[in-house]
Amino acid sequence: MRVIAIDGPAGSGKSTVGRMLADRLGLTYLDTGAMYRAVAFAAIRGGVDPVDAEPVAQLSRRIDLQMGNGSVVVDGVDASVEIRGPEVSRAVSVVAANPEVRAEMRARQRAWATERGGGVIEGRDIGSVVFPDAVLKVYLTADPEVRAQRRAKEMTDLEYDNVAADLARRDAADQGRTHSPLVEADDAVVLDTTGMEIDEVLDHLVGLVEERTAARRVDEG
Ligand code: CDP
Repeated sequence: MRVIAIDGPAGSGKSTVGRMLADRLGLTYLDTGAMYRAVAFAAIRGGVDPVDAEPVAQLSRRIDLQMGNGSVVVDGVDASVEIRGPEVSRAVSVVAANPEVRAEMRARQRAWATERGGGVIEGRDIGSVVFPDAVLKVYLTADPEVRAQRRAKEMTDLEYDNVAADLARRDAADQGRTHSPLVEADDAVVLDTTGMEIDEVLDHLVGLVEERTAARRVDEG
């Protein structure tokens, strides 16, 4: 199985880089943040309070999730746009801190990768917890103002200040939680994309994947 793990805080460029890297390598891409967002969406839609741990855990085990390239279908409902909205963004941190939800998403992520023989998988705990044997682990980061600017540009209907506050709040929650907090895996390549163009980041990562794949072939004889 060939997994490329990309982790990092919000707005660090994981999704853009992950999608393009998957294209370049001929692999499939999985946005695991969209899975946690989908669980939060399903809770809100089903009238379940996102802080009610047990009902949310049950719901996470029950729902049908279809993860496409940029699309998410939850129990037959296309949630691709709504999962990016402020309501889901507010609810997602508490849902993602729920250990039973995490166990369920971890199992689904591993099954997804097994079915495909790997892929480019993006999130917060992908290299540290879900795929410790990934061929390459990347920790993408960037200055908080740059990350908020990038995100504000994508979400044209939201004010910069609101976007910046949301990212700061979610980063603190993701880094401070007990279960699978956002951390740099010991063997992750840390890349600060503050002053980098996407193509530069991509070329660098493609080079690393090629190196690692060749080294693995030698190891495996
Ligand atoms: O796109 P953005 O960086 O804003 O966030 P996301 O990747 O869509 O993830 C949304 C939230 O899901 C994060 O703030 C985390 O709380 C959670 N998440 C997680 O806990 N573990 C993952 N592997 C991916 C996301």
